This record gives sequence, structure tokens and C-alpha cells, in this order.
Amino acid sequence: MTEHRETITIKGLPKQLQFINSKAHSVLLSGGYGCGKTLSLAFKLAMRASIPGAREILARKYFSTLGSTTLRTLLDGDGPTPPILPAGTYRHNKTAHTIRINGGGEIIYVGCDTPEKLGSINASGCAIDEAAELSKQDLIMLRGRCRLQPQNLKPQTYMVTNPQGPLHHLATHFGLDGHTKPAPKTLAILMATSENYHLPQDYVDELDRLTGADRARLFEGKWVQAEGLVYPDFDMHRMVKHRKGPWEKVVVGQDAGFNDPDVMLVVCKDAEGNLHVAQEFYENQQSMDKVVEAAKRIYSEFHPAAFAVDPSAARLRDELYMNHSLPVVKAENPILDGIRAVQRYMVVEGDGTRRFTIDPSCKNTIRELGSYAWAVQRTGETKDVPTDKWNHAMDALRYAVMELDGRSCFCGVVPDVNEYDDDEEDGWLPVGQRMDREAFGGDFWL
Ligand SMILES: Nc1ncnc2c1ncn2[C@@H]1O[C@H](COP(=O)(O)OP(=O)(O)OP(=O)(O)O)[C@@H](O)[C@H]1O
Ligand SMILES: [Mg+2]
Repeated sequence: MTEHRETITIKGLPKQLQFINSKAHSVLLSGGYGCGKTLSLAFKLAMRASIPGAREILARKYFSTLGSTTLRTLLDGDGPTPPILPAGTYRHNKTAHTIRINGGGEIIYVGCDTPEKLGSINASGCAIDEAAELSKQDLIMLRGRCRLQPQNLKPQTYMVTNPQGPLHHLATHFGLDGHTKPAPKTLAILMATSENYHLPQDYVDELDRLTGADRARLFEGKWVQAEGLVYPDFDMHRMVKHRKGPWEKVVVGQDAGFNDPDVMLVVCKDAEGNLHVAQEFYENQQSMDKVVEAAKRIYSEFHPAAFAVDPSAARLRDELYMNHSLPVVKAENPILDGIRAVQRYMVVEGDGTRRFTIDPSCKNTIRELGSYAWAVQRTGETKDVPTDKWNHAMDALRYAVMELDGRSCFCGVVPDVNEYDDDEEDGWLPVGQRMDREAFGGDFWL
């Protein structure tokens, strides 16, 4: 087979070139809609992967979104822009998700939703599109794969994204939050939509008409706080602090994750009714044993009155209660009630004090508190439903607060009939039946 190599020339915009040529260990190009992020990423990826021996990972959070975005720019072209890798210059194995460049190295494309596909790949670098969708753990996992150095090609993670809020882990890592120093050997390049003069003027004008945080993020490419936060009264400067007990009551809120993190929050209430989040467990893809182990450690340290456990985690509830004798309640309560219960603790009191504090070690929960937002309808109005993002610690928090306030709907371990074939278990109540704490009395249930 004759080798077919072709040169493609795209005149890069200044910041695109800065990104493409950067040798920083970790480089981010972030910017408003359409400023040319994906094209820059695909170009840098193709350049690096053309070096013989290179093995570059191309990643997005969800595998299903790669085909319609980054891979299209790379292999099919985008409107008048030709494909970065012209047909005939590579072989594409769609089953193995690899693109082997003639006379060069290869690209392996993956989604972080199927990390097992990465196996134990040794890669030379990693390109990430819409990097803000990835969790910190996803990024650590991808960075950990980059250890090949063919022909002095230095391992690098290079990523592009639309901006998010200043509490996002990327904002902290790259020093975009206004006060954190960027991590060593990192470079962040910010770009506004208007810097891409290839875009149709109508498109740019429409984005230019946006207002507030949307304009700042989506047009100007700035990492600013979104509007419509669920907890607008959360004040990072006043509420993040160390506090010691004594506590009147401690409850652990638990939210179960599979691709998402497993979370346990230790929430304490003092004699004056103030809340303090003392500790977080926030880990991705943990086995049940690991979660149980963490629950036992938390129990021996804080002696919580209850673990208010995710209603969907029936097996974990059973495991904690039956095999480890931990006090468990099924945290089944309407989401809006839970949010309102948490909001009440954050309101500034007449004397300027607040009834909610959180330990500085609870970094993920602090980030979620500053990012958890109401969903926005097509009309631009916010809905009475939070977005399905940044909600793992948030769910755990409202479970704990509802239980601390004595407002959980259910008490004790209530198995769902659908989850068990065996209905012989003595003492179980049928699904949905409310149990009254007092009705059971004693500390059998709590
Ligand atoms: N240097 C360039 N030369 C020619 N066209 C370009 C250049 N940079 C970007 N474009 C074109 O601008 C459009 C937007 O680019 P791209 O999709 O890379 O932007 P993006 O920032 O990833 O957008 P989004 O925010 O939607 O993800 C595309 O049609 C792309 O081909
Ligand atoms: Mg893009």
C-alpha cells in the first residue's frame, strides 16, 4: 500500500496558535461559543499523533458525544473547514476506536463513561474536548495514562472547554478563580467568541446580545458565577471555616453513584440549631466494601444518630444496617422540600450571622454549593427543578438536613418490593408505607 501523506494548512488565530504550540504540562484553551476550540484541539491532536510512536488519547466525558463533535472536525471537516486528517492519510478501526496515521502514530478515542476501555494504555498525551464536563478524578485518571515519550514528544494533557463557575476544579487548577495560584507547568488561554473572525456576523451579534453571566461565559469566555444558583446565599468567604463541637446531633447524608461519585457528608447540629458540615467522603467508582468501610470509620469518629441513605441504594442500606448494625434511614423526601430546608440555614440572620458552616476540607461539597443551579427553560426562565449537575454532595446534604430537622418521610430500612423476590423477611413494611419513628420506639430503628 502506498503511503499517502498530505499537508493541511489552516491559518490559526493567535490564541489557537498559542495553544497548539504550548509545551506546558497541562494546557487549557477556554472560550465563548464557537471561538475555535474544537478545531484547535483536533489540529494539535493530529500534529502530535503524526509523530511515529505517538499514542494520543482523545477523550470526552461521554463517548456518544465524540462522534458528532471532535471526531467530525478531525475526520469529516466542519462546514468550509476541511477535515484535519484528510481521507487516505490514516486507517480508522471503528471497533477498536483507533485511528492509525500513515507513517505516524495513533489516536485512541474514549469516553470517561467507559473507563475500562482505557485498560492500561500507555499514552504519549491526551486531548480533551469540553473538559469542564470531566470530574477531577476523570482528569487524574487520564493524566496517569500519559507516560510515553516517543521522539522527545513530552507527555501533555491539552484540553478545551466553555467556561464554568469560578469554583470549578479547572478554574482552581488553572488559577482562573481570581485568587488561586495556577498549578505548576500549566497554561490557560482565554478566548472570546468575537476573536474568531471566521464566524458569520449574525451568529456573533446574537451572542453579543446575551446579558449577565451568560454573556460573560458564552460570549466573553470568562469563568464567572452563573445566575440562578440554588444556594445563592452560600458565602464561601464567611461559611467555610473549621468548627469543633459539641454537637447536639450528627447525621450522615449518603448519595450513591456509579459513574458519579459516592458521597457521604457528616452534618452536625449544635445546641443553637446551627449546622456544620464537618467531613466529606467523595469518591468515584467505589466498591460497596469501600463505602461500608468509610461509613464505619465515620461512625467510630462521629457517632451519628443516623445515616440518611440514598433511596435508590437498597443494598447499601441493608449492608450497613443488617451486617454492620449501623443506624440507617431511607432518605426519601421531595427534592424541593430538602432544598428549602437547606436554604433556611443559609439565610443571613438579622444580626448578620449565618447558621451554616462547612469545613475547608470539604472541597467537592464547597464546589457543588457554588455551582448547583436551577434548570433554565428554552424561554430563558429558570425552572423549579435543579439541573442534573453538581448534585451529588447536594443530594447527600439535603438528605442529612431533612433527617436532622426530623422531616424524613421514612424511618428505618424499608425494602422496595421490586428489589427483592423474597418477601419473607419479618418486620419489613410494604413499599411506600410510612413508618413513624415513635411507633417503633427505642433504638431498634434509630
Ligand atoms: N482558524 C480557523 N480558520 C478557519 N475556520 C475556523 C478557524 N477556527 C475555527 N474555525 C471555524 O469556526 C467554527 C467554530 O469552530 P469550533 O467548532 O472549533 O469552535 P468551538 O469553540 O469548539 O465551538 P463550541 O463552543 O460550539 O464547542 C467552525 O466552523 C470552525 O471550522
Ligand atoms: Mg467545540
